[in-house]
Amino acid sequence: MKKIVVSAPGKLMLLGEHAVVYNHSCIVTAVGQRMFVTLELLPEPTFELEASDVEVAGYKKRFASLGEGDIPKGARFVEMAVKNFTKRYPLKGGVRITTKSEFSSLFGFGSSSASTVCVIKGLAELTNTNLSSKEIFELAYKTVLDVQGKGSGFDVAAAIYGRTLYFVTGGKVIEPIALDELPLVVGYTGVKADTVSLINAVAEKAFRHPKRIEVIYTQIGDMVDEAHAALKERNWPLVSELMDFDQGMLESLGVSSQRLAGMIHAARDAGAWGAKLSGAGGGDCMIALVSREKKQAVSEAITKVGGQVIDVATNVEGVRIEL
Ligand code: MEV
Repeated sequence: MKKIVVSAPGKLMLLGEHAVVYNHSCIVTAVGQRMFVTLELLPEPTFELEASDVEVAGYKKRFASLGEGDIPKGARFVEMAVKNFTKRYPLKGGVRITTKSEFSSLFGFGSSSASTVCVIKGLAELTNTNLSSKEIFELAYKTVLDVQGKGSGFDVAAAIYGRTLYFVTGGKVIEPIALDELPLVVGYTGVKADTVSLINAVAEKAFRHPKRIEVIYTQIGDMVDEAHAALKERNWPLVSELMDFDQGMLESLGVSSQRLAGMIHAARDAGAWGAKLSGAGGGDCMIALVSREKKQAVSEAITKVGGQVIDVATNVEGVRIEL
């Protein structure tokens, strides 16, 4: 039977979270810890999944009932990706899938979107279906919306295209930004954030204060656009200042936390150019943009206030076939 291994990177949001759900832009970078997915075609129309990182073992289902019934949390994205792909490009038999991640699903690096992308890319390769990156994006983004109902798709784009991207909601714009480095220090809070609950909490606030929240979203979108231009010129201090402003906006939306704020202030006090939360907020990670000279001091300061520094490359390659 034909077998293939596909990998895709995790991601970190540089600027623009939350506003990007509502037709604004964001900047995202792909990180050097990857999701690996092995796909093997089966003669019978069954779907099998092993995903030990998210406690799924020996999961098996008939193709005809894909997407139905009580699906374990750790299987939802992969199962829906198989369903969406095979609905459009029917398979003769079935598929066995094994996922293995280099990063913890707790970090908020986007393990679900990375595995979704790997499954669609892998099935396309195994069935000789020629899909462009945009076509992979459309199928993977549909899968994310089918499972969690909400999201901008920026994480899916990062997993597919890699590098650092300027992105607008739903993939209206996906533009790589040519960079040779992005000097970030990444700190994990130790707290897992629930993206959908945080999006809902912000939506509720927007319902009560529509004008104020719209002003905040517009401000965030403007900062992203200014940072986009500044990044092209490697103007790290300006990008960082915009990150600090963005953190202020995210505080106003109510998605920062004491732990995040402590790590962000520790990083700034230790000489980071700028620092903010990255992702939905509430927990997950913060990022600091730092000069080479300050990297050590900033890392130590984040650790000292209880954060876990994650040594990870940024601006890395997108989805690829491993073997
Ligand atoms: C979550 O990492 C970032 C959000 O903007 C959601 C999304 O864009 O899908 C809150």
